[in-house]
Amino acid sequence: MTPTTSTHFPAGFLWGASTAAHQTEGGNTNSDFWAKEVVEGSILPERSGDACDSYHRWREDLDLAVGLGLNSYRFSLEWSRIVPTPGAVSLAELAHYRRMIDGCLVRGLQPVVTLHHFTNPRWFADLGGWRRADNIAHFEAYVAAASTILEGVEWVCTFNEPNMLAMIATMFDDGQREELVAGALPPPDPAITDVTIAAHHRARALLAEHTDAKIGWTVANQNFQAEPGAEDIAREWGWPREDVFIDAARGDDFIGVQAYTRVRIGADGALAAPDGSELTLTGWEYYPNAAAEAVRHTAQLLPGMPIVVTENGIATDDDDQRIDYTSRSLRALADVAGSGVDLRGYFHWSLLDNYEWGSYAPHFGLVQVDRTTFARTIKPSGSWYGAVASANGATL
Ligand code: NOJ
Repeated sequence: MTPTTSTHFPAGFLWGASTAAHQTEGGNTNSDFWAKEVVEGSILPERSGDACDSYHRWREDLDLAVGLGLNSYRFSLEWSRIVPTPGAVSLAELAHYRRMIDGCLVRGLQPVVTLHHFTNPRWFADLGGWRRADNIAHFEAYVAAASTILEGVEWVCTFNEPNMLAMIATMFDDGQREELVAGALPPPDPAITDVTIAAHHRARALLAEHTDAKIGWTVANQNFQAEPGAEDIAREWGWPREDVFIDAARGDDFIGVQAYTRVRIGADGALAAPDGSELTLTGWEYYPNAAAEAVRHTAQLLPGMPIVVTENGIATDDDDQRIDYTSRSLRALADVAGSGVDLRGYFHWSLLDNYEWGSYAPHFGLVQVDRTTFARTIKPSGSWYGAVASANGATL
């Protein structure tokens, strides 16, 4: 690895790991994704089932995060648990998530709380979900309930990857999950785009009245790169498609950047990594510059906006490759921070091997989870990343 002299991150930098409720909790039977898993003829190869049983083992998860040396933990609240039927708020579920927030705070982990990470209550989906503007009021009612448990939380993400949310809906409607996995990405549904942007703005206003937290959302950066000859196609197809979602964050307190790879547009317009590229378990090109390039792109669109890398990582069974990927990614990010971009934190995806929206096969975790006993085992990459975090990057 090439030594570098600029692996200094700002004081107070957030070093964390990310998870999401549906991917780790288990038993989210009220959610629309669960319904898609269990429906006859489901296009999803595996069901989430008990996931990592984190609904019961969250204390162990927080102990692992702090034990590694992290100072922050990003997780999501499950709307379908908190509001299982329209208008009914579960105080017991709110208390559960408040215990998790307190659990972070007593351990010295800064909680970063995501309110919406892809899943909706089934009833919300049945009402037409994010395609109908009049459904925003339901989300606002949930956000109002969630705002009552956020004391002490400094960072709140309203939506996780609204641009993927708007894309995935199209995929499910067309029954084309395989194409999504292969990287043939359709444009985000325009109705969902408009409704989620409006919902974000309304949630932000509501949260600002009730909490002191910094409020933002996280955008999936596809890092589209046109090969020579494909520039016109790229322009015509409106890439990069995430820009409308980045633009909608003007006025937020921060923006979360999530990047894993790049997506190349060939001269024939097809999306694919060229022959000979090293691919990860998700079939994505091994591309450790992804996060740094995404942060630079975001900073160009939103100059001066505080940026947090809320997700970055790699699906691999080769843990040395995870270390290599992450160290390259972090060194490139240190250069970006050194060039004056206001980078506030880095969250590795993920703390745990978890349910990757249809399959447990892509292993993104710093910690392995046994699929029958749920026993957690720290991988060498977990210890390595924790040491980097403890040294604020100086050991990179
Ligand atoms: C982004 C999503 O937020 C997360 O849920 C997913 O598991 C990772 N990317 C990896 O695909």
